[in-house]
Amino acid sequence: MFITLEGSEGAGKSTLIESLKKYFLNNNIEFIFTKEPGATEEGAELRKLLLDKTIELDPISETFLLLADRIEHVKKIINPALEENKNVLSDRYLDSTYAYQGAGRKINKEELDKLIKPLKFPVPDLTIYLDLPVEEGLNRAKGRDGLDRFEEEEIDFFERIRNSYLKLAKKDSKRIVTIDSTKSEKEVFELAKKYIEKKLNES
Ligand code: TMP
Repeated sequence: MFITLEGSEGAGKSTLIESLKKYFLNNNIEFIFTKEPGATEEGAELRKLLLDKTIELDPISETFLLLADRIEHVKKIINPALEENKNVLSDRYLDSTYAYQGAGRKINKEELDKLIKPLKFPVPDLTIYLDLPVEEGLNRAKGRDGLDRFEEEEIDFFERIRNSYLKLAKKDSKRIVTIDSTKSEKEVFELAKKYIEKKLNES
């Protein structure tokens, strides 16, 4: 089972992941938790470059760095786990690239498809998208220390990302479920748990 978690800055992914980790542990459900960018040693180096706000990257260079991170991630962590029938939950994956580099950085979908499709990345069985109004998310994210290269962007960038996620979720409603992240942490967790358990029971 391959599950991904998506959302813009401050949408509550980290909080949800902590609750899910505890829940799976207490209920003896084995899950490998991973993330993008930066899950592998090589990816961690790429993540540093990607988040460094002193570096200016062309959107296509940025995409290549993210795809290099994903190639390492899929080859070294995701595919080996899926081949052993293990459950994997990744904090961000393919949809982030369509939302951030596609809508955010304005690379058109055809161009992104040309870069991504030949790489034959596995498609998630379920994607949970945490949706939050942009300003609310940014206020939450600003409460943390130091903004990174993405968090420093203008509000329009994040509006395009949110709209793109909502469109992706509408278009691929079998795979992507949306959770309203203005709900309490507990409600968000209960909904995510329900969607994940339903998928696990189906398989
Ligand atoms: P994080 O803050 O969730 O760890 O993610 C780091 C940043 O990387 C986040 O601002 C979104 C960005 N990102 C992309 O722009 N495209 C991608 O494909 C991925 C995986 C992440």
